[in-house]
Amino acid sequence: MKNIDSYTHVRGESLFVDDMILRQDALFGLVFDSPKAHGKILSVDYSNAEAVEGVIKIFTYRDIVGENQIGGIIPDEPLWAEDEVHFCGQPIAFIVAESDAIAKKARVLIEIEIEELQVITTAKEAKEKGSFINAPRSFNLGDSQKSFASCDYVFEGEIFSNGQEHLYLETQGCYVEPKENGNIKITSSTQGPTQVQKTAAKVLGIPMHKIEVDVIRLGGGFGGKEDQATPWAVMAAVAVQHLNRPVKFMLNRHDDLRMTGKRHPYESTFKIGLTKDLKIKAFEVEFLQNSGAAADLSPAIAERTLFHATNSYFVPNVKTTVYSCKTNLPPNTAFRGFGGPQGMFVIESAIAKAADELNIDKKEIQEANLLEENDEFSYGQIATEVQAKKSWFDAKEKFELEKLEKDIVDFNTDNQLFKKGISLMPIAFGISFTNTPMNHARALIHIYQDGSVGVSTGAVEMGQSVNTKMLQIASEVLGISSEKVKLESTNTTRVANTSPSAASSTADLNGKAVEMACNSLLERLIKVASNITASKDKSITFKDDCVFTGDKKSNITWNEVIAEAMLQRIALTENAHYATPIIHFDKSKEKGHPFAYHVYGTAITTVTVDCLRGVYEVDAVKIVHDFGKSMNIGIDIGQVEGALAQGIGWMTLEEIAYNKDGRLLSNALSTYKIPDVFSAAKIVEVLPLETDGHELAIKKSKAVGEPPLMYGIGSYFAIQNAVKAFNKNYKPTYHSPFTPEKVLMGLYEK
Ligand code: MTE
Ligand code: HPA
Ligand code: MOS
Repeated sequence: MKNIDSYTHVRGESLFVDDMILRQDALFGLVFDSPKAHGKILSVDYSNAEAVEGVIKIFTYRDIVGENQIGGIIPDEPLWAEDEVHFCGQPIAFIVAESDAIAKKARVLIEIEIEELQVITTAKEAKEKGSFINAPRSFNLGDSQKSFASCDYVFEGEIFSNGQEHLYLETQGCYVEPKENGNIKITSSTQGPTQVQKTAAKVLGIPMHKIEVDVIRLGGGFGGKEDQATPWAVMAAVAVQHLNRPVKFMLNRHDDLRMTGKRHPYESTFKIGLTKDLKIKAFEVEFLQNSGAAADLSPAIAERTLFHATNSYFVPNVKTTVYSCKTNLPPNTAFRGFGGPQGMFVIESAIAKAADELNIDKKEIQEANLLEENDEFSYGQIATEVQAKKSWFDAKEKFELEKLEKDIVDFNTDNQLFKKGISLMPIAFGISFTNTPMNHARALIHIYQDGSVGVSTGAVEMGQSVNTKMLQIASEVLGISSEKVKLESTNTTRVANTSPSAASSTADLNGKAVEMACNSLLERLIKVASNITASKDKSITFKDDCVFTGDKKSNITWNEVIAEAMLQRIALTENAHYATPIIHFDKSKEKGHPFAYHVYGTAITTVTVDCLRGVYEVDAVKIVHDFGKSMNIGIDIGQVEGALAQGIGWMTLEEIAYNKDGRLLSNALSTYKIPDVFSAAKIVEVLPLETDGHELAIKKSKAVGEPPLMYGIGSYFAIQNAVKAFNKNYKPTYHSPFTPEKVLMGLYEK
């Protein structure tokens, strides 16, 4: 089944926040933000800005009725700065005017005096100065310190991975309307409608039931709207509370780039110990996460870095520690993979370094350490239904690795100025919110009396096609055609207390709830149908919009059964709640079973480097991926392709740059390069691994949103191998992104 949005997307008819029809009295918002990364606010003079005709009011923290606090995990972030600023782009005030243009005109007239304080931009500096978000976390398995003594080889190194800009096509934004009796309706481009509702209630000092949050769809979120869609909606809501007029607020691209957090840069140091037969016996890492100026989701992201620090390998002795370092950058936030990619890049780099030192192929070490059934992760979960080896060997065999490698050797022998490189990248990614209490969802289903069906869930559609999957489930369980089912917007008055759409778990959690609700409705309808047909309940099923008795299609339609159910006053509405069973985690011991299951796969990446210019092309990425029993292979392969492009971008091109004063230099698309059609892999081949799927995956169709991003890590090492083929003196470093500038330096390193 096609993505149900494809028709309106292609015709430009899909609705986003910016397409909302505004009330006639609507106003427009714009943020005034800090020009300095750290300092004391001495004075702000709004008088010239306020005097601009059409400026209605400029809001500051003084206008907040409730609390000036938006921190989700730790209450450490004001909505608007009070007397200090902690990053460039930190919101200080909110201008509300009759038009965007007027608000912009007013913004430049605000005068601010700041006494500058010392600015920290890197995690290392923060650690040296003792500047942290919270206490460090450590995962331990076995005894790494002791085991290094008995290792045949021990290597150490330093790794850096840079941040990444989400660059959702639709920037952050909202439209907020006053309703009667002080109620407020927020339409927001958010992955977390409940987070918006809860935070708005807190800041406005009103109960959650006075706030309705509605989300039609997002023009992309990628984690950037899990937490960071909230402040904009809350600012507009504060204005609505005071003015009793609607406020629309869309960030322009420049403001969005400057004010929002990104993927966390990490600086890490590792120590890896191996035995003669290339088994990794001990592994230690210290991760320094550059969290930015407030916690946001950093503690949860740090945790997932630890969960994925050994990727798809079994290591018996592990000690990993992560420090969330407080710096004067915008608070960094969720980004597809949620700290997992940063963890995996380190172990892949450690393995690469060991292989270089031992003068062997990296894949020999990778292959010797792949997870097996019943291996223990450092956090205590026992690996089951492991597909690490199967996907690895399938990829090698089905994509004829030996031939690929031979072709590369031949090419490199024949060519002086172009060199090719290849690498393998296995992944294992845990599915579930790492914070166990977040793993729940609900669905509300109405069957209308004409037989059509409306489905509401907590799932937010952001391009990943979760609505299509929800529709598929409802139509399949009820045995009716997809045209009979409609997905409603995500709305906090229909489905409350939702977790954000994130952690790749949206389809699993909400889909299970849809399945449960549909099954309850079905039970009732079968009784009605059995009365009509005078057949036993057990023989009745619904299929193709009709009642079947046994295998036989009856002449009774779904619509007739619904009409009869109405006459019999049977409830045609159902609500279901799903909470993932089995999972648990004890933070005091850092042990448990946090994930419902893992997703596995292996990618083979080949690249060509132009050794005169340092530029490169990704020739092909060939992937064996564990979808389980995919319920929609078209959509799922689309997710692999998108995630892969994003992963390659993170590893190769996308370079976030701040200067030492904490100002974002890569503040436009002229200075921040994202993968385009020319830099995307020329060939992407995805082979589904044949497996049974997993009981806890919706219809045994495994979560797919984030895991394939990490295949992109393979491109880093493929490029390294090409550089090595050109320059024997090249000393590999592990400092992503591997931009053409860095490649060129490597090619001509003496
Ligand atoms: N795909 C598209 N097209 N747009 C997005 O914003 N977000 C990704 C992924 N795929 C995203 C996407 C992220 S970060 C996550 S966590 C998952 O989708 C969330 O959706 P799921 O839980 O339904 O997989
Ligand atoms: N993944 C994504 N988002 C989250 C998580 C997670 O594990 N925990 C909290 N938000
Ligand atoms: Mo995705 S980073 O969990 O929104």
